[in-house]
Amino acid sequence: MTSQDLKAPNCEALEPAARAVLTESAYNYYAGGAEDETTLRANRAAFSRFYLRPRVLVDVGEVDTSVEVLGERLSMPILLAPTAFQRLAHPEGEKASARAARAAGTLMVASTLSTTTVQDTAAAAPGPLWFQLYVYRQREITREMVQRAEAAGCTALCLTVTMPVQGNRERDNRTGFRLPPELEMANFSGLRQAGFPEGAPGSGLEAFIAREFDPTLTWSAVEWLRSITRLPIVLKGIVTPEDAALAVEHGADAVIVSNHGGRQLDCAEPTLLALPRVADAVGERIPVLMDGGIRRGTDVVKALALGARAVLVGRPALWGLAVGGQAGVEQVLEMLRGELRRTLALLGRPSIRALDAGAITEIQGLVLPPR
Ligand code: FNR
Repeated sequence: MTSQDLKAPNCEALEPAARAVLTESAYNYYAGGAEDETTLRANRAAFSRFYLRPRVLVDVGEVDTSVEVLGERLSMPILLAPTAFQRLAHPEGEKASARAARAAGTLMVASTLSTTTVQDTAAAAPGPLWFQLYVYRQREITREMVQRAEAAGCTALCLTVTMPVQGNRERDNRTGFRLPPELEMANFSGLRQAGFPEGAPGSGLEAFIAREFDPTLTWSAVEWLRSITRLPIVLKGIVTPEDAALAVEHGADAVIVSNHGGRQLDCAEPTLLALPRVADAVGERIPVLMDGGIRRGTDVVKALALGARAVLVGRPALWGLAVGGQAGVEQVLEMLRGELRRTLALLGRPSIRALDAGAITEIQGLVLPPR
């Protein structure tokens, strides 16, 4: 990491530096969304609909950003979202991210599609680690992954439900996205699933997903998963109150309001707008987390005021990883923590507990000119 990059004042400012060190295909894989990228952009834009309502003359000498998620005390309500193929960004890949999360007192969700095994990722940074799961046509592979995650000491399973088929990612079709020969999907090591199908046109990942992922998945998969593990199950990709109610009914221990960072169904509702309805439907029964477009401490506060227990960040961590490995991811987490602390102080809410619906208001029809 150069001293120039270390001076990036915020998460967004890291993206150009990351782009400069990534291949065109890796950059576009990380940055892109589905089709017209409407949801990708809307996830960000939704934050500008909400404004904060500061209370004044409150003692903010001490600001406490800690939260509890599934029995785990975290130093702040910001987790690392599961993102695939992190060694495309940096040779240390998933290990660097896991260490950065640990150093920051938070946790990472390790992707199924990691370029490092879950065992090695866990060993790199002992402590809480969640494992993200897809369900494959061959159920035995899923079962095997669950067993490996448990043996590695993972503390929760995060079942991503947004991917019956892959979203239409035109950037990856254009670049013919592939993993370079030295990288593999390490959690499938030794199986044919460790590589993308040979000779498929367009995105190799899309061909892989079409071959391996089970598009017939229904709610009974959650019950099946429950029957094979005692770990808490987090459903990632719940965006309607209808599905939130079903998630609770089927025994989910938490849900993540997520549209996969705008990479799956384009024109899906921005997550910040979906969040309050999901939070209402769930009530106090299980925690609701959210991701999509979190780039600032104020974004974190808005999501929490609208009902999230915690948020996850995807792309910003990848930019940090590309630019500086573990130190780069730590920088991202520390920038967000710093902004969060300052926001809470300026808002007159010295702890996460003090954040309530009164901290936020929705503005209708206010369009800001570009900066
Ligand atoms: C993802 N995401 C994702 N989700 C998941 O459950 N399993 C995965 O393997 C991946 N892989 C992945 C790769 C890349 C490059 C990105 C950008 C995203 C989705 C991710 O967990 C999260 O939902 C979004 O990234 C959140 O949006 P932001 O923070 O990137 O705006």
